[in-house]
Amino acid sequence: MSAVRKEYKRVTTKSIVEMKANGEKISMLTAYDYTFAKLLDSAGIDVLLVGDSASNVMAGHETTLPITLDQMIYHASSVVRGVSRALIVVDLPFGTYQSDPKKALRSAIRIMKESGAHAIKLEGGKEEAESIKRIVNAGIPVMGHLGLTPQSIHQFGSFALRAKEEAEAQKLKEDAKLLEQLGCFAIVLEKIPATLAEEVAKSVHIPIIGIGAGSAVDGQVLVMQDMLGMSNEFQPRFLRKYANLQEVITNAVSHYIEDVKSVDFPNEKEQY
Ligand code: KIV
Repeated sequence: MSAVRKEYKRVTTKSIVEMKANGEKISMLTAYDYTFAKLLDSAGIDVLLVGDSASNVMAGHETTLPITLDQMIYHASSVVRGVSRALIVVDLPFGTYQSDPKKALRSAIRIMKESGAHAIKLEGGKEEAESIKRIVNAGIPVMGHLGLTPQSIHQFGSFALRAKEEAEAQKLKEDAKLLEQLGCFAIVLEKIPATLAEEVAKSVHIPIIGIGAGSAVDGQVLVMQDMLGMSNEFQPRFLRKYANLQEVITNAVSHYIEDVKSVDFPNEKEQY
């Protein structure tokens, strides 16, 4: 069932809350650089997340932990320069907010001031309540992130499905309500059972954006490199690939190499 789509010249935190109220699903992808941000924005994406997954897909680290605040600001400001419509949300990286509300506010302010993005995202529920309160009180929109929170990967021990057990599911439901009360404008739910995600989405007025959380939520997010098929290394069940850029790029580069070696490139028209 598809809802009536309202045209938004510029998507704001208010627009996506309105989309939920109107039953319009929210599209969100990650972006880390100017060129791709411009492409995704022109295609009409609603929200761009400058995710700390940049640590994996841009820098080649195994986890999101190593990326720094300066590096996130560099990626975010590149994305901001390519975008004229989408809402831009930036992850607070590991170690820049956990259990220290003053530091959390300083980190959020640096992102907003130095990148020009529109909102920040941080991982965690009740434990981060004080930080969220401070950031929201400073006028900075906050997106929450519950379920599989990759900055806690060493505590979880694996990237397996979260909140299968009743106790963890109960905490997640309480955390989602708390994040709404604290003033978060949206929440990402990562890799949890679809029935639980549906229950959470129905229990709050703010949008729930899922990744591996089923279809009964208010929107979906994927990592851009994954959905464009830029690598074959990451194949979780929740991932749908919309292109095979690994093949397209490899073929194009092989062709270029051949042309250079055989002096087919450049030809007479391609020189001065
Ligand atoms: O950093 C990221 O890409 C994310 C998404 C997986 C939601 O947080």
